[in-house]
Amino acid sequence: MCGIVGAIASRDVVPILTEGLKRLEYRGYDSAGIAVLNDGIRRVRRVGRVVEMENAVRAEDLKGIIGIAHTRWATHGGVTESNAHPHVSNDEIAVVHNGIIENHEEQRARLKGLGYVFESQTDTEVVAHLVHHYFKASGDLFLATRKTAADLRGAYAIGVVALADPDTMTGARMGCPLVVGLGDGENFLASDVSALIAETRRVIYLEDGDVVALQRSGVRVVDRAGTEVHRVVHISELSANAVDLGPYQHYMQKEIHEQPRAVSDTLEGVIDSGVDAEGLFGAGSESVFRDIDSVLLLASGTSYYAGLVARFWMEGVARVPCSVELGHEYRYRDSIPNARQLIVTISQSGETLDTMEALKRAKELGQPHTLSICNVRESAIPRASRFVFYTRAGAEIGVASTKAFTTQLAALFTLTLAIAKAKGRLGPTAESDAIAQLRFVPGSIQHALNLEPQIQAWAERFAQREHALFLGRGIHYPVALEGALKLKEISYIHAEAYPAGELKHGPLALVDASMPVVVIAPNDALLEKVKSNMQEVRARGGELYVFADLDSHFTESEGVHVIRTPRHAGLLSPIVHAIPVQLLAYHTALRRGTDVDKPRNLAKAVTVE
Ligand code: G6P
Repeated sequence: MCGIVGAIASRDVVPILTEGLKRLEYRGYDSAGIAVLNDGIRRVRRVGRVVEMENAVRAEDLKGIIGIAHTRWATHGGVTESNAHPHVSNDEIAVVHNGIIENHEEQRARLKGLGYVFESQTDTEVVAHLVHHYFKASGDLFLATRKTAADLRGAYAIGVVALADPDTMTGARMGCPLVVGLGDGENFLASDVSALIAETRRVIYLEDGDVVALQRSGVRVVDRAGTEVHRVVHISELSANAVDLGPYQHYMQKEIHEQPRAVSDTLEGVIDSGVDAEGLFGAGSESVFRDIDSVLLLASGTSYYAGLVARFWMEGVARVPCSVELGHEYRYRDSIPNARQLIVTISQSGETLDTMEALKRAKELGQPHTLSICNVRESAIPRASRFVFYTRAGAEIGVASTKAFTTQLAALFTLTLAIAKAKGRLGPTAESDAIAQLRFVPGSIQHALNLEPQIQAWAERFAQREHALFLGRGIHYPVALEGALKLKEISYIHAEAYPAGELKHGPLALVDASMPVVVIAPNDALLEKVKSNMQEVRARGGELYVFADLDSHFTESEGVHVIRTPRHAGLLSPIVHAIPVQLLAYHTALRRGTDVDKPRNLAKAVTVE
C-alpha cells in the first residue's frame, strides 16, 4: 500500500528519498512521485515503478536538501500521473498522504468556495489546499498542519513541505503508521522503518493524533490535545539487508525456503524453556489464560486462515470455545461483548487497518484481554495489545504471505499449549510430547520443500488452466483455502476452496475434465470421508491432485496424481501441508510469467478499509 518518505538535511536528499521508496516497494503500489524545495517546488511523478520515476529524476537532475516522496496505491481516482503524489497547492505547499480522507467531498466544496482549483481526483488534494489556506493566514507550517489535521476525518499519515519555510517539514498521523527517523543534523519521516534503515536506526513511532515538525536540529511533537509531548526513541533492530534476494529469483521463493529456519526461530522459546506463558506472552498472561472462558481470533487474509486452523487446536487441545472472525466483519457487527474472552489479533505486518479497527472495537466493547501475534516489532497492532508474541519470520517482502503463515501457526499452537497448561489441561507428559512434536516441524517442512521437483511438474499442467478447485476437511480445510488464495493471488487462475463434504452441495456441478481438483488429504480422522469425496470427483471425470502423507496410503491411478510428504505430522500437519500448496502456486505463476512478488492490484500491508 502507499508509502511515504521525507527528509530534511544539509545534503542532497533525492538519493535518500529514492532509496527509501525502493525499500517500500514491497508494499505494493502503482505510481511514484517526489518533490523537493529548490528554487520552487520541483516535482517528478510517474505511473509505474520507482525506477521510472528515478530515471526521470536523473534526467531532470533533481536535487534538494528537503523533500518528500511517495508510492501510491490508487483508492480515489485512477492510476494516472495527475493523481500521483505529491500534490501541490498553488506552487507553495506539497503533500504526500497515506489512507483515506472520509470527509474529502465536504472539504473540497469548502475549498472550492475559497477559490481553490483542483487538479486531481484524489482525496489528498484537499490536504494540500487546507495546509495552504491555514499557512497563508499564519505563516506557521506546524500550526497550519495542526489546523488541517483537525479538519480531517478518516485515516491518514501525511508529510508536508512549504516553499516559504525550507527549514521545516511536518507530518501528522491518524490510523495510519508514521515514524520519525532521527539523524545527526538531519531528520526523516516515513510510513515504515524499513524505508529509513539505511540512514538511521533511531526512530519515534508517532501515536494517533500526533502532529510533528521536523527541523535539521530536532523534532517537536504535539498530541491530539495540542500538548507538546516527548515520544520514546526506539532503536530499530530491523536488518538493513533483510531485503536482499540472495540466490533466489523472487522474494516469495526465498521466503518459502526460509520456513524451516523461520519456524524453528519462532519456536525457540517454547522448545528451550517449555510452556512458560509469562516468558512467552508477557507478565500477567498466565492468570488471564486461566480465567478466560473463550477465545476470539481476529485477522485478515492469510492470517485469518491461520486462525481457522488454530480453532481446531484451541477447542481440541485447550478445550476452550474459540471463534474466528475477519476484522472488517467483526468491527461493524453487533456482537455480544464478553469480558472473559481473550481477543487474539493475528497480523504479519501489525498494520492491517481492518484488524487494527477490530481490536479497537473489541476494546471499546469492554473486552480487556488482548493478545497480538505479529511479525513486525513495535507495529501498531502489538502496541495496542496487552500481550504480544512476535513470530520470528524475518522481513516478509512477497505480497503473498508464506513464512508469516507457518510461523503464525507455530505461535498459535504455542498459545494453545499455554492456555491448556494454565487451565490445568496439559500435564507434564503431554507437555513434553507436544514439545517433541514441535521439534520435528522444521525438519518436516524441509522434507516438504524437497518435493519441489514433483510440484514443478504439476505446475506445468496448472499453468494451462483457468480454474481450480481445492478441497480439504477439518483441520486441513484452511490449508485448502490458503492454497486457493495463493494460486489466485499470484497466477490469476480462478481458484476456490471448499470443505470436501460440501462438494455435493454445489461445486460438484463445476467438475469436469478441465477442472483440476487439489485435495489436501494427509492421514487424519476424516481421511476415509475425503476418499469418498474424491470418488465423487473421479466419477465426473475430474482430475485429482492429491497432497498426502505416507500414512494415507494413496496410489496413483488414471486421473489421480499423488505427492506424499514423507512424515505424518499429527496435529501440526497443517503447518507442513502449507508448503506444497505454496510451491504449487509459485511455480504455476512462474510459468504464467506474472509478477510473483507484486501481483496486480494487491498490496502487502493494507492500511485502508
Ligand atoms: C494483505 C496481504 C496478505 C495478508 C493480509 C493480512 O491482503 O496481501 O498477504 O495476508 O493483507 O495482512 P497481515 O499483515 O495483517 O497479516
